[in-house]
Amino acid sequence: MLLSSFILASLVLVLLYLLLLHKDNISSIPLVSYRNLPVVGHLIPFLRDRRKFLMECHQRYGQCFTVKLLTQRITFVLSPFDWATVARNSSLYLPEHEFGIKVFDTGNSVIGFQQLNIEVHRYYTRYLKNRDRLQPIIVEFVLNLRKLMMHERMALKNSKNLSEWISTDLITFSHRMLFEPSSLALFGEINPLSIENDFRLFDQKIHYFNALLPSWIYSFFFRRELQTRFRLNNSWFSKIHPLHESDFIKHRADLLLDHPEWYSAQEFGGNQTAMMWASLANSTPALFWCLLYILRDTKALESIQQEIDMYLPSFSLDDDLSISLVSEWTTARLNSCVLLESAINETLRLVATPMVLRKCLHATDITLNDGRILHLKSNDAIALFSAIAHRDGNLFPDPDKFIFDRFVQKNADTVLGFMPFGMGKNICPGRYLARYEIKICIALVLRHMEYKFIDMKTIPTEQKHRIGVGIAPPNENVPIWYRYKS
Ligand code: HEM
Ligand SMILES: *[C@@H]1O[C@H](CO)[C@@H](O)[C@H](O)[C@H]1NC(C)=O
Ligand SMILES: *[C@@H]1O[C@H](CO)[C@@H](O)[C@H](O)[C@H]1NC(C)=O
Ligand SMILES: *[C@@H]1O[C@H](CO)[C@@H](O)[C@H](O)[C@H]1NC(C)=O
Ligand SMILES: *[C@@H]1O[C@H](CO)[C@@H](O)[C@H](O)[C@H]1NC(C)=O
Ligand SMILES: *[C@@H]1O[C@H](CO)[C@@H](O)[C@H](O)[C@H]1NC(C)=O
Repeated sequence: MLLSSFILASLVLVLLYLLLLHKDNISSIPLVSYRNLPVVGHLIPFLRDRRKFLMECHQRYGQCFTVKLLTQRITFVLSPFDWATVARNSSLYLPEHEFGIKVFDTGNSVIGFQQLNIEVHRYYTRYLKNRDRLQPIIVEFVLNLRKLMMHERMALKNSKNLSEWISTDLITFSHRMLFEPSSLALFGEINPLSIENDFRLFDQKIHYFNALLPSWIYSFFFRRELQTRFRLNNSWFSKIHPLHESDFIKHRADLLLDHPEWYSAQEFGGNQTAMMWASLANSTPALFWCLLYILRDTKALESIQQEIDMYLPSFSLDDDLSISLVSEWTTARLNSCVLLESAINETLRLVATPMVLRKCLHATDITLNDGRILHLKSNDAIALFSAIAHRDGNLFPDPDKFIFDRFVQKNADTVLGFMPFGMGKNICPGRYLARYEIKICIALVLRHMEYKFIDMKTIPTEQKHRIGVGIAPPNENVPIWYRYKS
């Protein structure tokens, strides 16, 4: 009797032990040992080509693994089933403050930052996530883009060159369509062209700043970039409230300037630069890829052209008689262009590679969809990376192919595995504006221009160091020819 209960008890213990051991095994998240060097960890393959590195890790370690960059460990979560759990957990936060200080030299005051941050997010919801409040920004954007095209067309006409093809490359073309019209629509009359070169130079080097290296490295190796940043910062003080600025920018500036105890004028300048960077740095390459994929797809063009003609009233580039029609480019009419929107979504699926980074405030456990538990300590980092799901054939059949109407039937706000703009509380507040701007550019190109691509097939490679920022610009120029319709 005694013996049998003893045997039974030991059996139970052994079973429990095995069970726990087994459970412990499946609950562990692998630390990547592949290409792990002493001290630097995975920094080198990560900096060299992070998408390739993460895809290799995905093949070896599955949907969740931890990599080491110097002293920082980052756990990557690749399965879309886990994204919402991570993005909604309130113990995890976007380290905006650290990025702000390092990249744009904004405020150091942590207390002030948190209070203002909450208020600024209210403004995002009020002005940028609200389609009615976006309407005036959209109209300004159309007016300014129209003006830019009209001036170019006039100049060509006056020199009797209207019928000649103009040669350029698609990234320059995309930059020009957005840079001035979008800056004017948001920030008002700030003379965007006077800061264009500085903006471009700083943007080209931003990944070094995003890497959050020690400060002395910047003052030592990045003198020129610090000077450009200084000039950008200063450009915001010539006039605090420029004419025709959007309500969003106006009220946001007042909020920051009303709290000099938290935000000095200098920090305000940095924050304005950051906002301008956020509003252009991903939209410009996004427009580039949209134009590349959509304008070369004859089948897509036919349907999209019809849709544009049906919903968006046409105005002339010759005179101002029809200018009042610009105000009829409403968010509602733009929303009706679902084929165009699907083609934009499809492009974003192919090219958006954001690394959605969160840091852990308090130790927390995250239960993954497969039952494993991810233990996070305070200051650990976690990153969602959507580029792999975007090309997953189980989620998107024929994943490498551009299928312009792929998203048409999927009108839900969230399509599983599709995350071009991040997720949760910090999801990109500019996502509606970005889609509208791209729609408008494509509509105006189709309406007023003729164009020729030299090469109808090649897809350029992406700038590797921009993978993870949002949307990477291309490595190679794509030459195009265009002229205005007469
Ligand atoms: C296609 C174009 C764009 C892409 C792909 C894009 C992508 C992103 C991503 C991935 C994030 C981080 C989200 C996260 O961590 O969860 C972000 C944040 C942000 N974006 Fe965009 N963005 C675009 C256009 C814009 C535009 C036009 C604006 C300006 C109106 C804008 C303003 C911002 C701001 C202010 C944040 C920070 C949000 C926060 O602090 O919570 N973005 N964007
Ligand atoms: C500007 O400052 C506010 C308040 O501290 C902050 O929430 C926001 O993230 C900053 N904006 C940018 C674009 O860095
Ligand atoms: C047309 O443009 C070319 C440059 O592209 C210029 O050299 C030429 O003078 C222009 N033609 C006229 C008639 O102005
Ligand atoms: C930003 O501009 C202000 C005002 O002109 C200036 O005092 C400050 O030193 C500048 N800071 C940086 C980092 O550019
Ligand atoms: C974070 O997630 C874990 C498990 O998934 C949960 O126990 C915890 O309550 C969450 N934390 C918050 C603050 O939501
Ligand atoms: C495009 O994607 C967004 C975000 O997933 C979604 O809300 C929207 O309905 C999509 N539009 C179309 C036409 O597929």
